[in-house]
Amino acid sequence: MSIVNAKEIMIEAAKGKYAVGAFNITDLIQMEAVIDAAIEKKAPLIIQTSVKPSKFLGTDVLVAIYRTIAQSAPIPICLHLDHCTDVDYCKKCADSGYTNIMIDASKQSYEENIRQTKEVVDYCHSVGDISVEGELGTVSGVEDQIKVAEDEAALANPVQAVEFVERTGLDIFAPAIGTAHGVYKTKNPKVDFERLGKINKLLNGNGIKTPLVVHGGTGLPEDYIQKLIEMGGAKFNVSPELKHTLIDSTYEYIVAHRDEYDPGKVDAAVRDAIRKAVGHWIDMLGSAGKA
Ligand code: 13P
Repeated sequence: MSIVNAKEIMIEAAKGKYAVGAFNITDLIQMEAVIDAAIEKKAPLIIQTSVKPSKFLGTDVLVAIYRTIAQSAPIPICLHLDHCTDVDYCKKCADSGYTNIMIDASKQSYEENIRQTKEVVDYCHSVGDISVEGELGTVSGVEDQIKVAEDEAALANPVQAVEFVERTGLDIFAPAIGTAHGVYKTKNPKVDFERLGKINKLLNGNGIKTPLVVHGGTGLPEDYIQKLIEMGGAKFNVSPELKHTLIDSTYEYIVAHRDEYDPGKVDAAVRDAIRKAVGHWIDMLGSAGKA
């Protein structure tokens, strides 16, 4: 059960009214930390990398580490490529052994978004049991140093969303609903819960076929998270929270142990801090004990 794609664990989540945490990592310590948390909580897990860390670490290295750990883990774990705007790189990651791929052509015209998304879906389905995520509308904020201004961000149209999913053959769908990448500037971000609910009803009203993804997890208030799960959110993406935890825990450890030169201890402190942060997310998403 350990190496899985995102769709299969998200269908279970949507049926059970909880969500799977999808955590962006940039190195091995973070990967181990999110796995530690998920095993401790007995929760299904999605590990994700954006394109930059994937290129920096090398897809083959990353996938080899993921598969080595995941195949003997007692929980299902998916490796997801996040927000890739390059069709060829999506295909390369599918070939390497990622189990979920996000083609993000949301900044293209509607027809071009459909064309690119369908090309990736067709390819991934021909390679093996790889599910594909696509986005309609645009999520504002910064992810992988790609910036989308708030006024450029457009919310997904529910009727168009159904057509988009049908024409692309998409497995999991990320509609823009007002959540944003990065840290929210306000305590009460403007999120269109009803829009997610409407899209979910149209797509999954007669049985869960295309589970829904919520981007922009960092800083979302807990009551928003619960409401978004109720409306059909089955995967929550969390990125900068882990990066902040990494930097802060590194800094705090070094300041407190300035005369020590033991990288293993710094790594252990970081791994523990990230494990705790991810554990808190798993509790909020209700996925503890679901693996
Ligand atoms: P945050 O930047 O809010 O954590 O969202 C991450 C995300 O959606 C990555 O796809």
